[in-house]
Amino acid sequence: MTHILAIDQGTTSSRAIVFGPDMKPMQSAQQEFEQHFPASGWVEHDPADLWATVQSTCKEVMAKAGLEAADIAAIGITNQRETTVIWDAETGAPLHNAIVWQDRRTARMCEELRAEGHGDQVTAITGLLLDPYFSATKVKWILDQNEGSRARAADGKLLFGTVDSFLIWHMTGGKAHVTDATNAARTMLYDIHKGEWSAEMCAMLDIPMQMLPEVRDCASDFGVTDLLGGETPIYGVAGDQQAATIGQACFKPGMLKSTYGTGCFALLNTGDTPVTSNNRLLTTVAYQLDGKPTYALEGSIFIAGAVVQWLRDGLGIISSASETQGLAEDGRGTVTLVPAFTGLGAPYWNPDCRGAVYGLTRDTSPADMARAALESIGFQTRDLWEAMRADWPDGDEAVLRVDGGLSANDWAMQFLSDMLGAPVDRPAGLDTTALGAAWLAGMRAGIYPDLDGFAATWAREARFDPVMSDEERAEGYARWQRAVAATQSV
Ligand code: G3P
Repeated sequence: MTHILAIDQGTTSSRAIVFGPDMKPMQSAQQEFEQHFPASGWVEHDPADLWATVQSTCKEVMAKAGLEAADIAAIGITNQRETTVIWDAETGAPLHNAIVWQDRRTARMCEELRAEGHGDQVTAITGLLLDPYFSATKVKWILDQNEGSRARAADGKLLFGTVDSFLIWHMTGGKAHVTDATNAARTMLYDIHKGEWSAEMCAMLDIPMQMLPEVRDCASDFGVTDLLGGETPIYGVAGDQQAATIGQACFKPGMLKSTYGTGCFALLNTGDTPVTSNNRLLTTVAYQLDGKPTYALEGSIFIAGAVVQWLRDGLGIISSASETQGLAEDGRGTVTLVPAFTGLGAPYWNPDCRGAVYGLTRDTSPADMARAALESIGFQTRDLWEAMRADWPDGDEAVLRVDGGLSANDWAMQFLSDMLGAPVDRPAGLDTTALGAAWLAGMRAGIYPDLDGFAATWAREARFDPVMSDEERAEGYARWQRAVAATQSV
């Protein structure tokens, strides 16, 4: 029992990664699944696909690594957050497709709740903003669509969960209906101050509390599964951005990380203080260990790496993401791209605006577009950085730890450092999300070190220091701010 299996159930694919006794990833398997877009702004997953791809990737990675259940000390799970599933407590049959975090169908519902004066109450209890991003209005929407579902839920016949809960329920044969504090904190139904489900929030949205999972620490006993052919405990659970915060060892107040996947999610550790943002950031649980929550300020950007995908699949001006590196070097910085493809997240929270490109001329080239795309990632992170600095003024020495696919792009990371005017550190292993989940499980199983021992293993692969002049930085950021303002006024 010397290995750990991490499951990373993400927005576009499921992955399974085996970590060795040295906490290094040994083998991995990945499978994409279908995205369903039933209407404009709607995004769904078939829950059966989530479960099937988790099962098959786990099987595949175990075979690749030549391991059996007896070799795995524990499983750690990390997952796309906020995505909402409701299922039958006896059969496991979903009542509806999973409604994905990106889905905007409850925008009007949120507006109505805001008009009724609930905005401040939601933030005071949950630390979140009243936005369709979170699970709560998605749960209400599904219940509203299905007559009699509230009564069934109140009778314990229907269960709600984020993807971690849904997977654990299946992995344990329906025995465990549980989640962890980080996933609970993304539902907009959880009181982050009291550390329990909020009766007030549930009453506001008419959600029977009987359907909610039990909330545990991130390193805890979540149940036992026969998924690998023997009895394996599930000992670690954290939402993917929180798992990356753990994997990046951002354990001290003031430490922050930014993950560049489809979107970009920056989390700043604020210790045992749940800092309320005056700048439209979210207050959330970074992790909870031994019953003690550590809080974070979070900035969520919906489109980051996805802008590079758009260059490839939408515009067809590159054939692989890595080409942006060379192209951006030749770009002139004359084009500004606001990638508000699904509205804007933090700190604007505008679900209705859409993307825009400014500064086009007859000689605008693919290089200019590639540069604009990578710059948009740096500019958006600067927006979050500004908001975080205003909410948490002690951050003068701050260094940003980066991870996720796009962090491998040197040009983008140099521009990011230039735009922040601060160092950007890239760790030796970029798969920090899976590592975070693996560490939670391995630490609980007693085969991995404690928090300080784990933090000591964090290693830097590269540091990017700012080289841009203050004047150029200010001019560039002002160009971005003008573009965002114009995009929001259209
Ligand atoms: O909040 C959404 C986030 O958890 C999704 O992450 O990596 O699956 O796009 P990812």
